[in-house]
Amino acid sequence: MADKKTIGIYKEYLKEHLSKKRYTHSVNVANSAVELAKRYGADTDKAYVAGLLHDVAKEIPSLELAAIVSKSTLDVCDIEKKAVPLFHGIAGAELVQTLFDIHDPEIISAIRYHTVACGNMPKLSQIVYLA
Ligand SMILES: [Fe+2]
Repeated sequence: MADKKTIGIYKEYLKEHLSKKRYTHSVNVANSAVELAKRYGADTDKAYVAGLLHDVAKEIPSLELAAIVSKSTLDVCDIEKKAVPLFHGIAGAELVQTLFDIHDPEIISAIRYHTVACGNMPKLSQIVYLA
């Protein structure tokens, strides 16, 4: 999975694009996700990456988020299309693919669904949601 250098690149991006408070939150979620992954038998590396990047789009202005969501190839329901606070999960899942070439379906799902709890969430998505 992601090596130390790659994690450093992710962290540098987050430091540049998030407030200090949001960055700290992201690191804390990543660490909590690893602990939950250990407890529930999920991939700890994927948990760290998904936890770290789950809010990568959190501080993007609403209009930009809306533009990303409107072009998203992810499954976005009508309710989500009207719920601005949920946009950053969808946009984040899109951004990590284009910014960091992350295409692991578990990581994408965990970022995409971290704002909503839905019935059939994969284990890693449940972990990041809880973390
Ligand atoms: Fe979030």
